[in-house]
Amino acid sequence: MEAKILSGKDLSAKVKEQLKQEVGSMRENGIIPGLAVIIVGDDPASRIYVNNKKKACREIGIESYEYALSEETSEAELLELVEKLNQDNKVSGILVQLPLPRHINEEKVILAICPEKDVDAFHPVNVGKIMIGKPDFLPCTPAGVMELIEESGVDVAGKECVVVGRSNIVGKPQSMLLLAKHGTVTICHSKTKNLDEVCRRADILVVAVGKPELVKGSSIKPGAVVLDVGMNRLENKKVVGDVEFSSAKEVASYITPVPGGVGPMTIAMLMKNTVKAAKLQNGK
Ligand code: GUN
Repeated sequence: MEAKILSGKDLSAKVKEQLKQEVGSMRENGIIPGLAVIIVGDDPASRIYVNNKKKACREIGIESYEYALSEETSEAELLELVEKLNQDNKVSGILVQLPLPRHINEEKVILAICPEKDVDAFHPVNVGKIMIGKPDFLPCTPAGVMELIEESGVDVAGKECVVVGRSNIVGKPQSMLLLAKHGTVTICHSKTKNLDEVCRRADILVVAVGKPELVKGSSIKPGAVVLDVGMNRLENKKVVGDVEFSSAKEVASYITPVPGGVGPMTIAMLMKNTVKAAKLQNGK
């Protein structure tokens, strides 16, 4: 039987609708969530992501403040802007779109964002809180994946969960969120031996490596839930995930499409974090 589609497009619309209601009542109480989005340079993919984030803010009633800086912006100038936004009461959350130009040290910039406004949950304080199971903010993409798993109705507890990819943005925090839900978690990466064999053990398979169609249906356990975090643009302009959708959907029980799967959930979770930041900063 063909897999059911886990639509991030539909689920993110529901999440955003709930947030819209919530922001409506916050505004009635004089609390206006605000998200500062900083983009440095003109990477076309980053531009699209930033535009999508601003659009989501508009839909929900979150104020967005864009800072589009030139490629030549110095690290010191960027750090100065972050510091200014840290002090600005209208700004609940600060997002610096990654990657940054090579002459800017990403780690330094992430460290400069005050943890209370770090809606990406990239600051070591927030990463540590996730690690000990006491997060203020959930990392956006992994949190979106968890909501999609929940939507499938499959309980993570006791399941074999395989995460392919160990990035700080997705793979590592994803593993922590699955562990927090009592999954038995294996993390795979470029040095993993017999990747296909390990993937075939997974009841829940999350793939986040940025390699087009790396995981085929033959590496998926029948009935597995498959979450595809990849977004790869092929030379023919087609966008595909890290999973070969056509073969995987014949084997999985649930699968996310690309596009329209994890991507829209990432943005919805960013909105959720921004609303939470505004509440925390207002003692709620
Ligand atoms: N670049 C790719 N993904 C992300 C993300 O989740 N947050 C930020 N700030 N930059 C990104």
